[in-house]
Amino acid sequence: MTGFPATFWWGASTAAYQIEGSVTADGRVPSIWDTFAATPGKVVNGDSGEGAADHYRRWEADVALMADLGLTAYRFSVAWPRAADLGFYDRLVDALLARGIRPVATLYHFDLPQWVEDAGGWTNRDTAYRFAEFAATVSAKLGDRVAMWNTVNEPWCSAFLGYGTGVHAPGRRADLFAAVHHLLLAHGLAVPELRSSSPRAQVSIALNGGTVRAVSTAEPDLDAARRIDGLLNRIFFDPVLRGEYPSDIVADTAGVTDWAFVQPGDLAAISAPLDALGVNYYQPDLVGAAASPVDDGSPYPTGGRVVHHEMPGPRTEMGWPIDPTGLRDMLVRVTADYGPIPLYVTENGAAFVDTVVDGRVRDPERIDYLRTHLAAAQEAMAAGVDLRGYFAWSLLDNFEWALGYGKRFGLVHVDYATFTRTPKDSAFWYRDVIRRGGL
Ligand code: NOJ
Repeated sequence: MTGFPATFWWGASTAAYQIEGSVTADGRVPSIWDTFAATPGKVVNGDSGEGAADHYRRWEADVALMADLGLTAYRFSVAWPRAADLGFYDRLVDALLARGIRPVATLYHFDLPQWVEDAGGWTNRDTAYRFAEFAATVSAKLGDRVAMWNTVNEPWCSAFLGYGTGVHAPGRRADLFAAVHHLLLAHGLAVPELRSSSPRAQVSIALNGGTVRAVSTAEPDLDAARRIDGLLNRIFFDPVLRGEYPSDIVADTAGVTDWAFVQPGDLAAISAPLDALGVNYYQPDLVGAAASPVDDGSPYPTGGRVVHHEMPGPRTEMGWPIDPTGLRDMLVRVTADYGPIPLYVTENGAAFVDTVVDGRVRDPERIDYLRTHLAAAQEAMAAGVDLRGYFAWSLLDNFEWALGYGKRFGLVHVDYATFTRTPKDSAFWYRDVIRRGGL
């Protein structure tokens, strides 16, 4: 029993700044990540996306690798800083199609052009309009061939890490709820642009899906879980799929924002019907109430009410607990609360320490991670979830944002001195899963 239909999309994901390099080629303009990475102390080891995995120059070999793995879909992002010359993506999409691989394009994966940030970035409403223009430009160029669009990737990260904690670019403390809203508005305004010049493509968004669990059933712990679930999940899922912000979160945040940036018509735009929903899942979150509430400086307006608990059990190299039941529960929950809507796992994967020994990378922990998460996805499908595809994060080792090149998520190992690609054991394992059509 494989459990996966023949129509299931077997994919891998990447993002422009994390793999491309060639940051000044063909008129690319600086992004907030170029600026952030050039600021001492922001990225581990002073790493930046300058070289990355050199995919901008090695894309043909990388597409051949994808074909060797048997991928039936490839999710990449189109760099807004490359808006002036999209020829690279034009060629990439053609090469994918020539190999029978569906192109899935994300329009925003953290790389805001610096000039847009200089005008206020995601805290400025205008950014949503600029993004819709970019979406129209990309759609006019690639819309006849892209199979699926993801408007925005993980807006939680852009808002909460970019304008809250500041561990992601631009690293500026501001009204992160304005950033949340403008990212969602950007999504909503992009949808009609994509529909008009890309009528055959599916339109979607890729949201963080973190299963939040309370450490006990005591009321304060349940309330802590409600708050974190609201700020991580519902604050995005509710407006996109129901056209409203969660009222408890609006109430909780009254002390930090008045939500005056939400204008008439915005929520109707944000809740434009979608063809599918992308969920990125990595780990669950176990939370409880703080014994004595303090201001912990966290980006959550929880006033130090919430404590994140260490989960027992194995972890990835990111320190993230490994718990596939969190993926199953997230898919089931999204379907129960917001569905039915076709779902895709647009990212799932793990970083481990990988080394090439005699031309081979043995990564049994990653195989285990992927196998157990695919099994969990299958359980969700058995429970009625309309899951249409799965994308491993990531095709290649790449620039893991503030953590630099030290965290390797790839199915394929990248030697950053020579850019040599070495498929890890997990890549061959995934190839066999795809060939068999399941586990
Ligand atoms: C989600 C992000 O979309 C991606 O850019 C990142 O590398 C992975 N998570 C792993 O942290």
